[in-house]
Amino acid sequence: MKREEKINKSPLKSRVVFFVTNNLSKFNEGRMVASKQGITLGMLRAKTPEIQSDRLAEIARRSVLEAFRRWKLPVIVEDAGLFVDELKGFPGPYSAYVYKTIGNQGLIKLLENVENRRATFRSLIAYYADKLKAPMCFEGKVVGNIIREEKRKTSRCGFGFDPIFQPLETKKTFAELSIEEKNKFSHRGKALNQFAEWYKKLQ
Ligand code: IMP
Repeated sequence: MKREEKINKSPLKSRVVFFVTNNLSKFNEGRMVASKQGITLGMLRAKTPEIQSDRLAEIARRSVLEAFRRWKLPVIVEDAGLFVDELKGFPGPYSAYVYKTIGNQGLIKLLENVENRRATFRSLIAYYADKLKAPMCFEGKVVGNIIREEKRKTSRCGFGFDPIFQPLETKKTFAELSIEEKNKFSHRGKALNQFAEWYKKLQ
């Protein structure tokens, strides 16, 4: 059977889920995970309003309901954060603000004389579509260390804290890995795979 015929016979053939995000890197990572699971992920390039909360799940749940109210499409949104042990979990839900203001150099400076470099990336993916009683949430996390200087494969590799985060499983930072490799370890890859497993059972 030709590849196209196979795809058309798939029960997921017309199932597209839209990832609401402004971040093309996040979307590219998500698209690769989804396509390996036979799900087509579209990008809805927009920013949904985020409530102030110290819980990623609460933020993602409220955002996905708002996205569905606007577009009436099956949607996922993600809220992610970097939780540094020595900073008692900071920046966590405030990661976007911290990245925008002090950036990677600022975080390295905050940890200048700190021996314990341990940190965890968490991703909360929320899905909502017509006829669902409530949003479904999926969480992924990856533990690693904040290194002392940025490392990336090329200047275009990675985003956000990627160049300073090294998962325990490898000696490379996220910014030195290909998308496929990053997805194997990453908070986002894990959360999206959980979503995909659940979603396929729905079909
Ligand atoms: P957001 O609110 O879900 O966009 O994530 C908060 C911030 O965490 C982003 O602005 C990024 O700086 C950072 N972040 C989230 N996920 C990743 C990642 O996979 N790599 C690097 N930084 C990330």
